Amino acid sequence: MKRADFTPQNVTDSPNVNTIFSIWVFKDNIDIKHSFERVCALVENFNNSFRTRLPNTEASCVMGIGYEAWLKLDMPMPMPLELKTFNEIKGPKHTAVSTPGDLHFHLRSTTMGACFDMSMALSEVLIEIADCIDEVQAFRYWDGRSVIGFVDGTENPQGQDREHYAMVGEESDLYQGGSYLFVQKYLHNMKSWNSTSVEEQERVIGRYKMSDIEMPDDIKPSNSHTALTNIEDEDGNELKIIRDNLPFGNASKGEIGTYFISYANRFSTTEKMLENMFIGDPVGNYDRLLDFSTAVSGSLYFVPTLDMLGDYSAD
Ligand code: HEM
Repeated sequence: MKRADFTPQNVTDSPNVNTIFSIWVFKDNIDIKHSFERVCALVENFNNSFRTRLPNTEASCVMGIGYEAWLKLDMPMPMPLELKTFNEIKGPKHTAVSTPGDLHFHLRSTTMGACFDMSMALSEVLIEIADCIDEVQAFRYWDGRSVIGFVDGTENPQGQDREHYAMVGEESDLYQGGSYLFVQKYLHNMKSWNSTSVEEQERVIGRYKMSDIEMPDDIKPSNSHTALTNIEDEDGNELKIIRDNLPFGNASKGEIGTYFISYANRFSTTEKMLENMFIGDPVGNYDRLLDFSTAVSGSLYFVPTLDMLGDYSAD
């Protein structure tokens, strides 16, 4: 099957004011096909309906499918080239853990009501065939800052570059417009972070905190977050991903974190950044941000185009 044109899911949307992330795992020994067809129809329905009803809320729903789920669902297309079960990345001090996930939902809107409506409608169908193993309600924090106080997303690709870096391109007729989605839930040690001086925090991130200006290369430490995640291919071309991270938290329980979410035209780019962060570049020179942040989940998905989801229902 060759795709001349395609309608992607909303992977290039910007992080919105409100978001619900959820991860579902299929129940064993149950017929999932019929309910999954309904879920595919809902994903398309939400995006069209909110655009018509409440265009200003910029509501969108993106669904990703994990490796195991792709097999269980008997998808009409072969396995996307770089879709696999995420292999944990173990560094000298910190580990990027691998946790289960068959379906991932990214529900965004300016109003939580829209996110919640989408979540309720999806859950009504999913609950029959899957267990929700994590649901996180996240929010825009001040002027787009992560909960550790630094603006998060500044170096994201802009304009047409977003499409280029977020989606599989012409190199694959079959998967063009699809995207590799990777998520991790991080918990921060806020006590330790807040007792670190602002100057030291800036050396951890590699940017100035208030102004969000990048440190000059001759000052930026090689183990800062932005030094290790700024990567190139062997020909010197920058390799980028789209990040839509948001803070979440339950302050009274001391659970305060960042939901890391990225869309990419290939997973190997995200994986290389993770290796630099956790193993280090060179080995041992790992990301100082990890001394304040623990990854408690990690899973990889492929986001098919809406046409691919339509093919599933029609199959
Ligand atoms: C940059 C926060 C995890 C990839 C940044 C920046 C902040 C930040 C504040 C600087 C501003 C910006 O350009 O966005 C965080 C937090 C994380 C996290 C709080 C979780 C605890 C990750 C992970 C990856 C990643 C897991 C990759 C797999 C990047 C990239 C940049 C960046 C590519 C831009 C680097 C550059 O070109 O300057 N992050 N990040 N981040 N982060 Fe993260």
